[in-house]
Amino acid sequence: MGAEALAQIAAEIGGCTRCPLHAGRGRTVPGEGNPLSDVLLVGEGPGAREDATGRPFVGPAGQLLDELLRSIGWAREDVFIANVVKCRPPGNRDPEPDEIATCSRYLDRQEEALDPVVIVTLGRHSLRRYLPDARIGQLHGALRRSGGRFIFPMYHPAAALHQSSLRETLFTDMRGLPAALLAAREALEAERVTSVPQRNPEPAPVEPATSADEAEQLPLF
Ligand code: URA
Repeated sequence: MGAEALAQIAAEIGGCTRCPLHAGRGRTVPGEGNPLSDVLLVGEGPGAREDATGRPFVGPAGQLLDELLRSIGWAREDVFIANVVKCRPPGNRDPEPDEIATCSRYLDRQEEALDPVVIVTLGRHSLRRYLPDARIGQLHGALRRSGGRFIFPMYHPAAALHQSSLRETLFTDMRGLPAALLAAREALEAERVTSVPQRNPEPAPVEPATSADEAEQLPLF
């Protein structure tokens, strides 16, 4: 179901001409990864390698992202990777606010299809989508709530390619991601349990099970 929806969204992105970025693109870069993953990574926009291949984070920043994921025993196939804009801004300039706004319909739908437990924002454009007034220098590496979602802000890997002191920060923040995912899962589970309406205050009598299989299928109430 998630995979089909994601493929459909990718097909629509492939034909998109809603903003000026389409005119200069080579290929659209809808995103890729595990459609069942609880973790969505959101970068800014495609660079030259991404534009040439149609795949996110396959250039120098992507190599660092792969290293970061490997450092916690994950691979890019374990997560889903997307960007706030799906077409390359000319000369790798920052995406304009109206380009981000126009393209957000696709990321909105990708989030809906994946329903991730944690969204890892890579860089400030991605962070601002979820926490508009946030400063990355203050929030990086810590789990935040935004609407119904858990956000884990990180610096953009490309920033560490220009400023080597950020490399260590990125690895330190990444080490916190598995625990942040567990904490988010637990918080969602606690909310789910407390929000289940209690239809039957007195548990109904339960007939003795005749086999282990049947016992597992018995409803709680
Ligand atoms: N930078 C991004 O933000 N996204 C990519 O896909 C590649 C580089």
